Amino acid sequence: MTRRRVAILISGRGSNMVSLIEAASRPDFPAEIALVLSNRPDAAGLEHARAAGIATLAIDHKAFPDRETFDRAMDAALKEHDIAFICLAGFMRVLTDGFVERWSGKMINIHPSLLPLYRGTRTHRRALDDGVLLHGCTVHFVVPELDAGPIIAQAAVPVVPGDTEESLAARVIVQERILYPQALRTICDGTARLDNGRVVFSRDWDANGTLHSPG
Ligand code: GRF
Repeated sequence: MTRRRVAILISGRGSNMVSLIEAASRPDFPAEIALVLSNRPDAAGLEHARAAGIATLAIDHKAFPDRETFDRAMDAALKEHDIAFICLAGFMRVLTDGFVERWSGKMINIHPSLLPLYRGTRTHRRALDDGVLLHGCTVHFVVPELDAGPIIAQAAVPVVPGDTEESLAARVIVQERILYPQALRTICDGTARLDNGRVVFSRDWDANGTLHSPG
């Protein structure tokens, strides 16, 4: 089994990063986390990654005159570490089209909604305001348009009476931490790949399962 070299890009606490590191510590996982990179030197996740023995790098975006030069510095660091795939995990910088295109089919993101619903921020608030009874999270390939890339995996979470943004976010993040390693596995072992703007899967799955909310 080839273990693909993966970089995780974070800006904050990095709880999805932790779940990716845990998954990749298993010998049968087709990826190794070779680098954790943050645009914020004070990101809490960096310390955890260091403690796990992973190479870390802080490239402070404030030290660069514009997005292009910042993205070029990141690109150089990723090449230096021989990175094959990138996971964005709470990385709070908009990337330039050039960077996104250079990593097309090799960069994935996790978003806290069932895309294409609720692109952007405050996803839990907006789901509650709309009264949807299923919410969730999505892993997708990154394309220049924000949160609009081809979908690799999704997990649905029921919305229950009395839910607040916090209670809903707490249930969604649990599923994010399960979903993200599964999705990374599928792209690293070649089960899912980007082909002409669509995700192509090389396996079948059960089409009969359903999730009802209320259950
Ligand atoms: C997650 O909700 C993720 O979906 C979004 O940013 C948040 C990051 O959380 N993109 P964490 O830093 O992984 O805990």
